[in-house]
Amino acid sequence: MKSKLEEFSKLWGVEVTYLEATTSTNDIAREVTSAQGDIVIAECQSAGRGQRGNRWTSPSGENLMFSLLLTPLFLSAEEQFYVSKAVSLAVCQAFREYEVQAMIKWPNDIYVDDRKIAGILIEHDVTGDSITRSIIGIGINVNQREFDPSLPNPTSMALETSSEYFDRVDVLSTFYEKLTALYDLLGRDGKAEIDSQYMDALYLLGQPHTFTEPGGRSYRGVIRNVLPDGQIRIEDEAGHTHIYLFKEVSY
Ligand code: BTN
Repeated sequence: MKSKLEEFSKLWGVEVTYLEATTSTNDIAREVTSAQGDIVIAECQSAGRGQRGNRWTSPSGENLMFSLLLTPLFLSAEEQFYVSKAVSLAVCQAFREYEVQAMIKWPNDIYVDDRKIAGILIEHDVTGDSITRSIIGIGINVNQREFDPSLPNPTSMALETSSEYFDRVDVLSTFYEKLTALYDLLGRDGKAEIDSQYMDALYLLGQPHTFTEPGGRSYRGVIRNVLPDGQIRIEDEAGHTHIYLFKEVSY
């Protein structure tokens, strides 16, 4: 792992910090990364964070857990969801190179059918109307075959394919290549193209499903769109439209 990461670092001209064990790569990336594209990667995290205040855990040496720094100064604060779109698309596109048919579950979980294969935790620093720094934390289930039974629906690249084993630095490189292309596209005002690719990759788009609000109210509806600011638009069976921010609806 370490020597392949050194090659990766030379190839891309970025700093890669490799740690056997740490608290959370997102926290370390905040301290040690200085240039766009720099990465912190760990075999093991004692305080790995997920979305909605959840923990992210992974057995040592089987999966990918890393954080990278982006400085999307070309985006305004209200356009921050484009970072999430580009990153989740890059993860999906990377999986597809390995015959893993991944989709994006809004806002940025990565699913194969009804099983979660990767998670993304993005933390932005915003000053005034600009995003000065984005720490992109990604956990990808690569070679893990057995999961804690308390996890609702996990899967991995190894479980989804007939391959026994994937080289994790190859997977990281594939993701990095995809992200570089999508991020360039975003910087060249390719927002409409990113929007369209995100919608094409959206899990359950246009399919009837049960949605639950935090108060417990559930209803049947269909995802119709994700708006530029990241809010989801759901149409219920009576034809009424509901618009939610992240955490305001689950499904
Ligand atoms: C989720 O809940 O789906 C997001 C999971 C994000 C996990 C990754 S692992 C690397 C990075 N460091 C963290 O503490 N979290 C992210």
